[in-house]
Amino acid sequence: MTTLSPHQTIEIIPFEGAPLGAEVTGLDLSQPLADEDFKRIHRAHLDHHVVVFRDQRITPEQHINFSRRFGPLQIHVLHQFQLSGHPEILIVSNVMENGKPIGLGDAGHFWHSDLSYKETPSLGSLLHAQELPAEGGDTLFANMHLAWDTLPQALRDAVKGRSAEHTYLAKYAELQKRSPWRPNLSAEQIAQVEPVVHPIVRTHPETGRRALFVSEHFTTRVIGLPEDESRDLLQALFDHSVCDEHVYRHVWREHDLVFWDNRSLMHLAAGTPDHLRRKMYRTTIEGDTPF
Ligand code: SIN
Repeated sequence: MTTLSPHQTIEIIPFEGAPLGAEVTGLDLSQPLADEDFKRIHRAHLDHHVVVFRDQRITPEQHINFSRRFGPLQIHVLHQFQLSGHPEILIVSNVMENGKPIGLGDAGHFWHSDLSYKETPSLGSLLHAQELPAEGGDTLFANMHLAWDTLPQALRDAVKGRSAEHTYLAKYAELQKRSPWRPNLSAEQIAQVEPVVHPIVRTHPETGRRALFVSEHFTTRVIGLPEDESRDLLQALFDHSVCDEHVYRHVWREHDLVFWDNRSLMHLAAGTPDHLRRKMYRTTIEGDTPF
C-alpha cells in the first residue's frame, strides 16, 4: 500500500568508531511516515543493525504502528508485564508499585537475542525510554556478524554444520532466586516456550550475511556433542562474541527510541542501581525461522 504523506528530511549518521549503530535525525515518528522514509530506515537498520531515534514523543499506539511497518508483532510470554490495553508492549522496568513490579525488571541481564527460544525468533525490537535513571541503565549491543567474521578457524571448524538448543527457561530459576521480578509460570506459559533448535551460524534473510546465533541467556547445548565439550564450545563462542571490538554501548537519553536487529546482534542490559527508577516500553517484530 502506498502512503501519501510528505516525507521528512531525514539523515542517517553512523556512530563514529563503533562496530554498529547509526542515529536517524530529522524524523518525528508521531507524524505519518512516507514510504520513501520508511525505505531509508529499513535500509539503515540492515546496514547498521541499531538505529536510534532521539526525542520521540510518541504514544504506545504510535510505537506499535511504527513497529508493525516491519512485520507482525510478537506477544511476550510474561503477560503479567503487558502494558494495559496494549499486549504488544512489554514493560521493562525495575519500578515497584504497591509492592508489586510493574514490569520485567531483570530483562536483558544476560546477553541474548530476543525470543531466540521461539521457532520464529524476533526480527527486531523497539525499546522506547519512558523514565530513565540519573545513572546506569545503559544497553550494550554485540555485532554477531563481526563475531562470525573474526571467529578463529578452530572454532569455525568446531561449529560447522552444527545446531544448538535455545530454551526460555535456561536461566529462569536462577533469575527468580535473585530478583523479585520473575513470576511463577503457569502450565500454559511453559507450553508456549518449549525448547527449540537453531543453527549456530545463521544467514541473515535480507542481507545474506552470516552471524553467530548463540547466547549466554538462552542457548543451553550444542546438539550431538558430549555435555563438557558442548559447554566449553558455547563458552568460547560467548566470550569471543562480546569482546570490546564487537560491542556498542547505548547511553540512553530522554524519549530515545532504539530499534535493533536481533538477527545481527545480541544485547545486554548493563543494570540500574536499585534506588533509581527505569521504565521502558518494548515491542518485538516476528522474524523468520533461522537457516
Ligand atoms: C531487553 O533485553 O530487551 C531489555 C534491554 C534493556 O532494558 O536495556
